[in-house]
Amino acid sequence: SQNEPLKVMISGAPASGKGTQCEMIVQKFGLVHISTGDLLRSEVAAGSEIGNQAKEFMNSGRLVPDELVTNMVIERLSRDDTKQKGWLLDGFPRSFPQAQSLEKMKIRPDVFIALDVPDETLIDRCVGRRLDPETGKIYHIKNFPPETEEIKARLITRPDDTEEKVKSRLQIYKQNVEAIVSTYSDLLKKIDGNRSKDVIFGEISSLLLQVQKEKEKETEKS
Ligand code: AP5
Repeated sequence: SQNEPLKVMISGAPASGKGTQCEMIVQKFGLVHISTGDLLRSEVAAGSEIGNQAKEFMNSGRLVPDELVTNMVIERLSRDDTKQKGWLLDGFPRSFPQAQSLEKMKIRPDVFIALDVPDETLIDRCVGRRLDPETGKIYHIKNFPPETEEIKARLITRPDDTEEKVKSRLQIYKQNVEAIVSTYSDLLKKIDGNRSKDVIFGEISSLLLQVQKEKEKETEKS
């Protein structure tokens, strides 16, 4: 029988490095990256109905209503590519009701990765973050400056990346994290995210290879 592709959730506080690690995971493992933050930002940019409903919440650093985000994710997970390539869910679930919606539908990951980074580092990472609107690539003014002047000139700052909003996003994260982590306690892998991005990726990569091997053994048995 054919091997089932990997299903991965990655979580962590704002600016813990989820998006950065996802870029590298996708390159190596070919999973379908589903980032609720990215999906919502493109809905806002497109001026869609979903985008208009989400915009105020996002710009003020609050969570978008559960139903709106959950429907968006379930729709995305139901497409064919996720069944062939597997999925990498980034930034979802982010509240207890969101996690419960997936549990009810029996949608579970093979592994739940939690990136752990101290608060002071998070604030510095958010305030220094820049995005390339053309490639979607994530930069940081000190840690990962752009490669060329041309890229530098077009970089943008997210409206929710001010110090004040980061602090409130962090607070909201802390209010929700316990309930989510307890839903996936059997699948939880904590990773120290306060290291260089390549070292972190090395650890995530060997973890995923190991999970993949275990899945292959399971399919051989059945
Ligand atoms: P979302 O886009 O998910 O924001 P977030 O969770 O706050 O996460 P970030 O994108 O800020 O950070 P990241 O962990 O991806 O870090 P990154 O790799 O960029 O959500 C935005 C908003 O959308 C929410 O506030 C909410 O309103 C809404 N939303 C989204 N999902 C929702 C949901 N499920 N329910 C309800 N609402 C939802 O890295 C950060 C910076 O650090 C970068 O500059 C990077 O270059 C740098 N960096 C990364 N790794 C390292 C490293 N190892 N060392 C040094 N610097 C590093």
